[in-house]
Amino acid sequence: MTTRTVLITGGAGFIGGNFVRYALRTHPDWSVINLDKLTYAGNPASLRDVEGDPRYRFVHGDICDTALVDSLVPQADTIVNFAAETHVDRSLQDESPFVLTNVYGTSVLLGAALRHKTPLFLHISTDEVYGEMPPGASARETDPLRPRNPYAASKASADLMCMAFHTTHQLPVMAVRMTNNVGPYQYPEKAVPLFITNALEDKPLPVYGQGLQIRDWLYVEDACEALDLALRRGAPGQIYNVAGSNERPNVETARAILRILGKPESLITFVEDRKGHDQRYSLDSSRMRDLGWQPAHSFEAALEKTVRWYRENPQWWRPIKQGDFAQYYTRQYARRLPTKQRARRGIASPRRLQ
Ligand code: NAD
Ligand code: TYD
Repeated sequence: MTTRTVLITGGAGFIGGNFVRYALRTHPDWSVINLDKLTYAGNPASLRDVEGDPRYRFVHGDICDTALVDSLVPQADTIVNFAAETHVDRSLQDESPFVLTNVYGTSVLLGAALRHKTPLFLHISTDEVYGEMPPGASARETDPLRPRNPYAASKASADLMCMAFHTTHQLPVMAVRMTNNVGPYQYPEKAVPLFITNALEDKPLPVYGQGLQIRDWLYVEDACEALDLALRRGAPGQIYNVAGSNERPNVETARAILRILGKPESLITFVEDRKGHDQRYSLDSSRMRDLGWQPAHSFEAALEKTVRWYRENPQWWRPIKQGDFAQYYTRQYARRLPTKQRARRGIASPRRLQ
């Protein structure tokens, strides 16, 4: 018997797909409707194993489509909004889809939830909304938002819209802000799957700048558990930070991947830095821990599981890397050009990056 029907948006993406699988596995009494536009980052192949489950339904569509959203929202008693444009580097090339999906799309979902009196709305957000953190500091939920790139600005705007709907309309909406997730089914433009798959192909790992920026890595199963707990025990109107507590400079992450794969460190190639690259993100997740959550995976365990998955599932990522991704890769990395001077400083030659 279904006790909860969850409308998951963006469930064909990395975290959304892992959450769809997690929800069906851990809650036999839940049904899931997955609304996904299947942008370049959405992949139906990530959910082949649940396609036959009678509790699962896929709807191909856009969260900006008010009529479609209005037809689906009354069928659910819970909304979990993962759908987003998510890659910082792409937001530096063109911010418009980020504003459309992340800000306007979220407001369409909020409006429908209000009209149809949806009992619970969980919005998925990011540590990036707080901006970069100085050494030793970790952001609390009450801290000001200081997003510094277009992706982060669009996510912060969506968070503000969620909280505005709670304040003005008492919509039962919560937000969870997470650190960088790692795990299976992540599109290989993001640092960890890019580094792993490049290493598997004996290609250079393009580390921005000196690789000294720090990110905090959270295994996606631990993230799913936190989201589940927020749905069951969280308070409407509340924001919850979720940290992996695995802060590492990027170059160390690249080295750890190479170590696990038994590949040489000479594959690490320092390339021109990302514009406005945030030095460090860090979250204080004591509020989430007070609900009874803590991450189960160390940095090493999270990376090892992730590396093993990519090693064992080339049929998932190879077709992606050979498709449109190849054009993106050239656009993003080939322009990090080698002049002779740069080559002397160890910056990659575009040929090495092909
Ligand atoms: P992803 O890029 O892997 O997947 C995004 C999914 O959303 C794709 O399936 C895509 O097709 C879908 N989508 C995009 N625009 C849509 C639209 N207009 N309508 C319907 N579907 C649409 O993203 P992810 O890494 O799984 O991130 C999921 C959420 O978690 C995002 O909101 C992101 O901001 C947030 N988040 C991600 C991380 C991380 O490390 N990946 C960390 C913190 C927060
Ligand atoms: P990314 O996975 O894009 O996530 P985010 O920017 O949301 O944190 O990048 C993680 C870190 O890795 C970030 O500091 C940028 C860096 N990075 C590289 O050094 N090289 C790359 O090719 C990419 C994509 C990212």
